[in-house]
Amino acid sequence: MQYSEKVLDHFSNPRNVGELPDANGVGEVGNAVCGDIMKMYLKIENNIIKDVKFKTFGCGAAIATSSMATELIKGATVDEALKLSNKAVAAALDGLPPAKIHCSVLAEQAVRSALADYYARQGIDPEPIVGKIDAGCDSCTH
Ligand code: FES
Repeated sequence: MQYSEKVLDHFSNPRNVGELPDANGVGEVGNAVCGDIMKMYLKIENNIIKDVKFKTFGCGAAIATSSMATELIKGATVDEALKLSNKAVAAALDGLPPAKIHCSVLAEQAVRSALADYYARQGIDPEPIVGKIDAGCDSCTH
């Protein structure tokens, strides 16, 4: 399996690892097939993602994709973060092997799950905005 330099870099030196005690959006997703889990913490102020941290218990690609996802949404607006797709995360890492695409889906869904929590805390039903959180993936091969 071939990994890009960027994947290897984000795997060995992941950005924004940890927790945010003052997060106002916290999400957790897991993939039932591989068993990997991702937790995402967002600090949102005036519709801007001021800070973001993550914890991933999973494969190298899950760590690299969650690291890249945090880099892509840090400083972004909530709307921009809502549009973050697993494809954009994979592209920012110069691609992923096909068997590892589901890892980037987990990263996308972790961000969505944290945004859903952000809305829920304000008494807003998140589903019409964020959609259903589903970290499963049809292309999982193991
Ligand atoms: Fe499941 Fe990578 S997230 S193997």
